[in-house]
Amino acid sequence: MKIQISKITELKENISTAILFEKTSDFPSELLDEKEEKYFQEKTEKNQEVVIFKYPYLNFFYKIKDEKIRIIGFEKARKAGAELFKILKQENVGSMQLINSCEENLTLPFLEGLLLACYSFSKYKTEKEDFNLAHVFVLDKNINKQQLKELQILRDAVFFARNLVNEPLSTLTATKLAEEIQSAGDKAGFSVEIFGKQKIKVLKMGGLLAVNKGSIDPPTFSILEWNPKNPVNKKPVILVGKGVVYDTGGLSLKPTANSMDYMKSDMGGAAAVAATIYAVAKAKIPVHVIGLVPATDNRPDGNAYTPGDIITMFDGTTVEIKNTDAEGRLLLADALSYAKKYNPELVIDIATLTGSAVLITSDSGIAAMSNNKNFLNLLKKSGEEVYERLIELPLWEEFSESLKSSVADFNNLGVREGQTSIAGKFLEHFTDYPWIHLDIAGPAFIHDDKGYRIKGGTGTGTRLLFNFLKNFDPGNN
Ligand code: BES
Ligand code: MN
Ligand code: ZN
Repeated sequence: MKIQISKITELKENISTAILFEKTSDFPSELLDEKEEKYFQEKTEKNQEVVIFKYPYLNFFYKIKDEKIRIIGFEKARKAGAELFKILKQENVGSMQLINSCEENLTLPFLEGLLLACYSFSKYKTEKEDFNLAHVFVLDKNINKQQLKELQILRDAVFFARNLVNEPLSTLTATKLAEEIQSAGDKAGFSVEIFGKQKIKVLKMGGLLAVNKGSIDPPTFSILEWNPKNPVNKKPVILVGKGVVYDTGGLSLKPTANSMDYMKSDMGGAAAVAATIYAVAKAKIPVHVIGLVPATDNRPDGNAYTPGDIITMFDGTTVEIKNTDAEGRLLLADALSYAKKYNPELVIDIATLTGSAVLITSDSGIAAMSNNKNFLNLLKKSGEEVYERLIELPLWEEFSESLKSSVADFNNLGVREGQTSIAGKFLEHFTDYPWIHLDIAGPAFIHDDKGYRIKGGTGTGTRLLFNFLKNFDPGNN
């Protein structure tokens, strides 16, 4: 389903209407008759935030309370948009107009929530939903066509990420993931280079190859590049995404109860990277961005890598494998080392990396670690704007102690306590540039609908990274 959004300059009649308002007096009075007005007054006097009635067209009034904290007001507007979508679906309303009669420009976040709620992964359902919200007319002189276009690009990007996460392993192997990235590149105009198993072997990406040993499918390493004319940055920004298309844990097999059933989502970082670069290219954002996506599944098999193995990474570091379920850091480390050759301005990796990040953030935030305060602060700001908020964790020296090994440079496990930072510390070893690590194990996949996030893959990271790149200015650092 794809909603068409268009600007209007006059109220339409005989159509369902949603109004964002602060004061009742701001209302376009021609909209309500006496009876309706009375009903409405009664409800709002009782401080009801949302008033809905239908005679015969659906009317939806959303009262904007004076939120002192702007970002909370924005998020409330997104949630209200999602709420409206549910009602439109229930009532089978296929087109509507949206009017903003308050000062604060909440039309965009409201529309964003409405658009993002309009998602379902129904590809494999025999009976498809027949509801279609075809058209939203927007009356708000403060927003322009460009903003509406960008909103639609972002919607497409988030849906692309959600679709990738929701595809199971049987339909999204590492090879298929690379092909999907390639076709997104063709559509949006960014370039894609795909390394297959042979090339990965020649490059000696030992982390990615080790994890892939138990798989019957070859690994891939995709390089995405958006290099516009006159970019604001001389050195590229690099996004690295964990692309574990399925994580069984390998020989250190995950326990069955509830821990493996949604591990198709272990490429949520890769999905966010692909979707962000899709949006950046579509919106022609003037930033030179490169994406690196190492991908494989992690499975037990006759030839699977084993606890006790000592592997040599792309940069020559040796690692003793203590647990094959700590696989993400191995392929990410290779990609982070590979990133050095670009002399990057900044590298951001994004990954469903640790179960302990879920304990910290739940599905409400992202655990972030960085060696660069300025860039991290800018990313935090984007996180607040789009409500994909960051929780900063430290990269204290002490966290690397348990990563020592008596037979290799490191082991891949460390202790349980502080595991999210320990994993971050492991990755840090492979960086020599400004770097941010994002652990999205919590929010990448949800089990129930929550506002504009629909159950399944959420596309977390896409709106965050897009917002960050849109505002990116290396002079800021
Ligand atoms: N993909 C998992 C992390 C994960 C857990 C993502 C739950 C989403 C939800 C990762 O590869 C993993 O297995 N991590 C282990 C590491 C441990 C063995 C050090 C973990 O966190 O349990
Ligand atoms: Mn794992
Ligand atoms: Zn994993």
